[in-house]
Amino acid sequence: MTGRAAVVAGLGGWLPPVRVTNDDLAVQLDTTDEWITTRTGIRQRFVVPPGLSTSGIAVEAGARALASAGRSSVGLLVLATSTPDHPCPATAPEVASRLGLGEIPAFDVAAVCTGFVYALAGASSMISAGIADSALVIGADTFSTILNPEDRTTRAIFGDGAGAVALRAGTADEPGALLGFDLGSDGSQADMITVPGGGSEHRSRGVVEADDLYFTMQGRSVFRNAVTRMSESSRRLAHRIGWPVDTVDRLVAHQANVRILSAVGAELGLPDDRLVVNLDRVGNTVAASIPLALVDGVHAGEITPGDRVLLCGFGGGLTWGAAALEFPRLSVEPLPGLPAKSLSTHAN
Ligand code: COA
Repeated sequence: MTGRAAVVAGLGGWLPPVRVTNDDLAVQLDTTDEWITTRTGIRQRFVVPPGLSTSGIAVEAGARALASAGRSSVGLLVLATSTPDHPCPATAPEVASRLGLGEIPAFDVAAVCTGFVYALAGASSMISAGIADSALVIGADTFSTILNPEDRTTRAIFGDGAGAVALRAGTADEPGALLGFDLGSDGSQADMITVPGGGSEHRSRGVVEADDLYFTMQGRSVFRNAVTRMSESSRRLAHRIGWPVDTVDRLVAHQANVRILSAVGAELGLPDDRLVVNLDRVGNTVAASIPLALVDGVHAGEITPGDRVLLCGFGGGLTWGAAALEFPRLSVEPLPGLPAKSLSTHAN
């Protein structure tokens, strides 16, 4: 007998309309297209115009995932974001309401760039436990709203975007069934990726400096930890579900830096052509990064039905995680504003 499992039934993504190229950044900051491309692999990113926030882009991606699944309702909404519309309340209930999903349970998950994997694990578990029969899992972030406009390191990397999957209850032997998760955290390194101010710890001291409201990261340490944590988490999960790592057809890792992706592939012994890479087109979109890479990978013909797909993420917290599925047949709209992806954009 095969157990109840959450099955991926729909996929969608959305990018805001303002495209920012490396050359655009070089006009405002002491940087060059050559530096950004060589050190990160990123060529452009998209940012929200004034008045558009995380809820707005989450609604767009959620609607596309629902359409992809052929559904107009779900029993649960989980939104992964670290740039909620407000510190309180969560943004998920508003997104559910704007999608016309009624009075369903809806909550946010804040695990920065690992947020989508954590949210997927939460929704999958609630479906497996019988708490919900279907779910919409959205990763959406608008990091452009929390970056220091003068910080060339962070502005070169981050972009805004939203991606989503629709889940339904099914069985573990179906294509699209989520086969397992590996999750972890290390709060002793919380300072490595942080917005120092704006929360209760900061406010309790009574001093709020404007600069403390900007996102900061220790780039080199983040780089090293991202490689180690994503490789270890992927390897642990593959072992647990009985996949020899070299049978993974596609690794969809958090799109942070093309050199990080290549290093994770090398650690796992996976050649570059098994890595899905779309950060050159969208930058690091935080919680949206994995579902946006899935959308682009499907459209490029890199991810096909039956493929063994391993998802892995790493982010602030520190947090990390991995998820596995055999990819189902899905009908997915391309990302708006992006020409078809060339198959030559693999890590190199
Ligand atoms: N343009 C030009 N120079 C830049 C720059 C930019 N956009 N960003 C940083 N630099 C400079 C630095 O100021 C430094 O100058 P200095 O030597 O005069 O002090 C120099 O480049 C080297 O900086 P370093 O941080 O050592 O470079 P790096 O090769 O590690 O690349 C990152 C920097 C941020 C691209 C890289 O560390 C990285 O990608 N880290 C992971 C970031 C990430 O993925 N974050 C999200 C995690 S989920």
